[in-house]
Amino acid sequence: MGIWITGDVHGAIDIAKLSHRRWPAGRSLTRDDFLIIAGDFGMPWDGSNEERYWLDWLEERPWTTLYVDGNHECYPYLEDLPVTERWGGKVQVYPDHPHIVHLMRGQVFDLPLASAADIRPPSAADDASRRGPAPARTLRVFAMGGAASHDKAWRTPGWSWFPEELPAPAEYAEAERNLAEAGWKVDLVVSHCCAARWLPALLSAGDRAGRDEPDALVTWFDELEERLAYRLWCFGHYHVDLMPDARHRALYRQVASWDELLAEGAARGPAAPRDGDATADGTAAAPPEGRPAHDA
Ligand SMILES: [Fe+2]
Repeated sequence: MGIWITGDVHGAIDIAKLSHRRWPAGRSLTRDDFLIIAGDFGMPWDGSNEERYWLDWLEERPWTTLYVDGNHECYPYLEDLPVTERWGGKVQVYPDHPHIVHLMRGQVFDLPLASAADIRPPSAADDASRRGPAPARTLRVFAMGGAASHDKAWRTPGWSWFPEELPAPAEYAEAERNLAEAGWKVDLVVSHCCAARWLPALLSAGDRAGRDEPDALVTWFDELEERLAYRLWCFGHYHVDLMPDARHRALYRQVASWDELLAEGAARGPAAPRDGDATADGTAAAPPEGRPAHDA
């Protein structure tokens, strides 16, 4: 059991990166392996035969596909899907494609793993959390989809653009509740967009047009950066493969395993310091005060 992560799929447009030719490792995976797509999964949308073909194709792959939502999802379809619980958080399982699973916003999941190298040691913070420590041989994942469309002026509301692309206040509140229960500590964050602080680095490398205006979600992520402990934060949206620091990874065309991403981060060097991190003389700085609240 392992975890692999990639960026936007956009329905048929970018799904070829999951082919045997482009991602040979995928061939040897099993249903116990997870591929997490960091938003803009994009299916179903229009119910076309082409779309059905690709959903069937993905269902037939040997792994289990998980995705957080991006700005390019058909939100009326998701609205109608039943909500169930799996791995400790809320999910939506595609009825005709049971190995395609939507990881809902603000949820904390304990995904089973096999590799001993994947397992983080327990800590005092685990013991203090109401949710309790992550079960042995699991990876604790915080999923928070959504993003603002930079091109919504050219899109049609209700067809190619949906206001649900950004979380509602209740979704931020649920996220904060679930993270509090997890003691504000996870292994992996998967989102579609990233904290506002990373936008300059990402947008100078990728598709900049209209994406550099901070919105409510990237602002909330910026506050979350100061409070949440995590090992790695992966996101899509910016259509670029880039590691702006040792703990943040933008993904688009690449499909990378958890182990590979950790190794890449270790080679990249120390993560950028945050408010509340240990100080240079080794004394622990005070934890950030207050909640990373969403004011809206
Ligand atoms: Fe996208």
